[in-house]
This record gives sequence, structure tokens and C-alpha cells, in this order.
Amino acid sequence: MRGDIKHPHNPSWPKVRYTNHMKPTKISNIFSQEELDNLLLTTEQSEKTIDDFLGRQRSLFLDSSKYPLDKLESISYQAYGSSLVLNDITYVEYNGKFGTPMLPPHFDGDFSELIINFQLSTNTVWQIGVDLELFTLEDNSAVLFHPNETAHWRPHKTFNDGEYVKMIFFRYTANPPKDYSHMRLSIDDPQFKDINQLRDSFK
Ligand SMILES: [Fe+2]
Repeated sequence: MRGDIKHPHNPSWPKVRYTNHMKPTKISNIFSQEELDNLLLTTEQSEKTIDDFLGRQRSLFLDSSKYPLDKLESISYQAYGSSLVLNDITYVEYNGKFGTPMLPPHFDGDFSELIINFQLSTNTVWQIGVDLELFTLEDNSAVLFHPNETAHWRPHKTFNDGEYVKMIFFRYTANPPKDYSHMRLSIDDPQFKDINQLRDSFK
């Protein structure tokens, strides 16, 4: 099913397109201060690897027992409209010391039906593009969308020394999971033409 809504930021931009039933949604003030402190501690203590291609370090397969799972389940159910299974928690820090931070338009090409793209902590502003819509997150807020049916990206940005963006991605699958590996498209795929035009217009 396709749906259209008007772009909230600039009416001259094309209308946003969704190929699924889930409209990207922003949620604010998700966790309590105590929960946030625990999340920061857990991510700080986790083992990390560097993705220098994307200018970030990440921790995979974080211990889900450290997270407020009831709250996450309620958020995912309300956003998606039916029960999903929490399948992965990934922590990511974008920072110039890990390479050149960037996120070209892509689909995840995994098994996810929903991602909670949660901003844990940042000292700069780096919007998230979901199809042709831009979201500005504050710490403790998230944008939710279907990462295999809705292309997502970040604008071009040069990180100054010391700037960072720390995110946690909560990924949910159906039961049984659906395989979207065919959605691993190259950045110049025609499906990304409008998005790349928009993204490059901000240079
Ligand atoms: Fe993604």
C-alpha cells in the first residue's frame, strides 16, 4: 500500500512516499533518567569494532537484559500495530576519529520489520532522512520506520573535532522473520534517485 503526506518542512519538495503501512514516527522523552544512565553505562562498557567506511564504531548483540524491554515492546507494538520480536540491539557512535561519518540512502537488507532509531547522546545536529522526510532528534528521542521498505539516510555533514552522535538501533522482526536481503541495493540504484537529489541539494 502506498500513502502520501505533505512534506512538513518545505512544501516545494516532493511528497513523501511510503511503500508500507507504517508511517515513520518520532517519539520523544522515551526513557527515564535512570534508564538513560544505565544505557550510557552499558554502551560504554561494551566491546566495540570500528566501521571506518561509515566513520563510526559499533557494538553488536548487546545484552538485552540491560534494556527496559517492556517499554520498548509497547513502543514497537503501538508503531507497528501488531507484535514483533526484538531481534537485535546495536550501539553506534559516529565520530570523525573513526573515519568520515556518513550514511548514504539504503535499505537495511536484513530481516527487520521495524527499527527504533534511538538517539542516546550527541553534541551536534545531524538529521535523519526517512525517504524524503527529515527528522531532527533530540537525545532520548527516536524515529521509527520500516528499514527494509523505507530508504533512510543522513545529510552530508563534516564533523568537527570532538563532535559525536551516539545511537542505539533496536530491530524487530516478524515471527517467523521475513528475508529482505534482496534489498541490499547500491547507492546509485534508481530507487534512490529522488533522495540523492534531495541529499545533494544540501551540500
Ligand atoms: Fe539502515
